[in-house]
Amino acid sequence: MVSKKIRKAVFPAAGLGTRFLPATKAQPKEMLVVVDKPIIQYVIEEAVASGLSSIIIVTGKGKNTIEDHFDVSHELERLLEQRGKTEMLEQVRSISNMINISYVRQGEQLGLGHAVLMTRDLVGDEPFAVMLGDDIIDGKVPCMRQMINVFESYGGPVVAVQKVPRQEISAYGVIDGEPEGGTGRLFRINDMVEKPSAEDAPSDLAIIGRYILTPDIFDALEETPRDRGGEIQLTNALRKLKESRPLYGYQFQGVRHDAGNKLGFLRATVEFALKREDLGGPFREYLKSLSL
Ligand code: G1P
Repeated sequence: MVSKKIRKAVFPAAGLGTRFLPATKAQPKEMLVVVDKPIIQYVIEEAVASGLSSIIIVTGKGKNTIEDHFDVSHELERLLEQRGKTEMLEQVRSISNMINISYVRQGEQLGLGHAVLMTRDLVGDEPFAVMLGDDIIDGKVPCMRQMINVFESYGGPVVAVQKVPRQEISAYGVIDGEPEGGTGRLFRINDMVEKPSAEDAPSDLAIIGRYILTPDIFDALEETPRDRGGEIQLTNALRKLKESRPLYGYQFQGVRHDAGNKLGFLRATVEFALKREDLGGPFREYLKSLSL
């Protein structure tokens, strides 16, 4: 019998990051720093806190610093050891010890669906998570853990959803769903559409960058034609999958920051800095002193 346990998460990270130019001209957007950690580390920490044990990062050209960041840095460790900087040494070590990471390269930029398809061999025949690095989600219970709980009860693919204002809906995949269970947070998906216009959007429930998928998504992706922009959309493959099994949308609890967007990134920086034990106090004082 195929295991139902979610062990692996796919992190698509091959995108060009054009929304964040010029910062991303020579630097992966996943490595942009919020307070003192690259964005991707926040999301990997969510995966670890959700109980996942292995990560597959889909990279591309110019993304080497991601691999270096999560690799062991003997030189740095030796230096910190010699200088007696034990706390920093622990921090640096914990990054490389965090979780088992493997990498796959997406040679061509053919979209999110194509990035997921690249991981077929590494994922194998088991359900898995997909976590998009742009979305940092700050929740008491990690968002991915909430989704795993849904998957464990319902057994079908789950996408994270959030209500967004109409004028922003065209930046997202959007679901048409009906309430399922009694929580008011779970929806059974009737249909879904990638980046509809505000008038055509079937609801205000946008897909956010967290998914739990079952391995039959790979065949669906193989069969999904490219869209008008030449990309294979994960939303379109899910739509195909819906013909053969129920899909769910889950309105997670927590604050989501779109850190791939400049304003979202600034908000995330301020909120995470305010929450920090070492920085929160003086930073709050500084913000209060600004005559806004
Ligand atoms: C992707 C998905 C979209 C989803 C979004 C969430 O779009 O294709 O369905 O709503 O992520 O962030 P992207 O932002 O990569 O264009």
